[in-house]
Amino acid sequence: MSRLSLALDTADLAEHYEKVSADRQFRVGQKLVAALGIGPTDRVLDVGSGTGLLAGHIAELVAPDGTVTGIDPLPLRIAIARQKRPTTIRFEVGSAYDLSAFAAESFDVVLLNAVFHWLPEKLEPLRQFARVLAPGGRLGISTGSREHRGVLQTIRGEVLARAPFNAYPESQDGLAHHISAAELQALLAQAGFAVRSIDVVPNAHHLPDGDATIRFWEASSFGNSLGHLPVAIRAQARQAIVEELDRLRTEEGIHLGGARIVAIATKT
Ligand SMILES: C[S@@+](CC[C@H](N)C(=O)[O-])C[C@H]1O[C@@H](n2cnc3c(N)ncnc32)[C@H](O)[C@@H]1O
Repeated sequence: MSRLSLALDTADLAEHYEKVSADRQFRVGQKLVAALGIGPTDRVLDVGSGTGLLAGHIAELVAPDGTVTGIDPLPLRIAIARQKRPTTIRFEVGSAYDLSAFAAESFDVVLLNAVFHWLPEKLEPLRQFARVLAPGGRLGISTGSREHRGVLQTIRGEVLARAPFNAYPESQDGLAHHISAAELQALLAQAGFAVRSIDVVPNAHHLPDGDATIRFWEASSFGNSLGHLPVAIRAQARQAIVEELDRLRTEEGIHLGGARIVAIATKT
C-alpha cells in the first residue's frame, strides 16, 4: 500500500517547483498541448495543474472564447497559480478522483502533464475524464515510463536498499506509480477512449549537480521523495543520494535520463 502523501508539501517546495518546472515539465507540457492541437474555443481541464505555468500557456491559445480550468490537490500550488496566472483561468483545489464539480460533457480537452504517475489507481480517473469530455473530446497524458528508469529512481533504489533505510518498505520501489505504454493503452480502451497515438520519448533534461537534482525531485514529488523515512534518517539518506548523483556529473551536469509516455486519445 503506497504511503504517498499530499500533506508533505511546503511553501518552499511549491515556490521551488514554480522555478524549476519552467525548464522541464513546462517544456514537456507545451509539446503535449501542441500534440492535442489546443486552440481557440477549446474548453480545457488541466488535471494536476500544479502552480499553473502550463495553464497560463493554454489560456493564451484558447483566448478569447475558450476556457481553462486547473485543479490540483495541493493548496499551496493552487495559491501560487491564482496569484501568478491570468484571472481568466479558474483554479480549484481538487483531485482526479472527484470531478463531480464538473458537468458531463463540459470540456473539449482534458490533460495531465507529469501527473498520471502520481495516481495510485488509474481506471476510475480515466472514466471520470471520459464523463466530463464532450463527444470526440481529446485526452492528453504525459507520464513517466516504468520501463525506462531515470537516474534518480536508480540511485534512490540503490541507496535505500542499504541499512538503515531498507527497513522501510517504500524504499524498494519508490512512491510513484509508473506504468508501461502497453498498460496505458489497455486502460484507455477500457475507459472508453480511442488511442490516436502513444509514444515513448526519451528525457533530455540536465541539472547542475546532485543537490539541484534532489531539490528538483523534492519539489516535483511535493515532499514525497524521502517522506516515508523517519525524519531522523532523512538527511542521511538525502546526503548519500547527493553523493552518488555527483559521481555521475559531467560538464553538462547530471543527465536525468528515463523516458515519458505521451498518449493522445479521443472519447469514443
Ligand atoms: C510534477 S507536478 C506537475 C504539475 C503540472 N501539471 C506541470 O506540468 O507542471 C505533479 C502534480 O500532480 C498533482 N497530483 C497528485 N495527485 C493528484 C490527484 N489525485 N489529482 C490531481 N492531481 C494530483 C500534484 O499535486 C502535483 O501538483
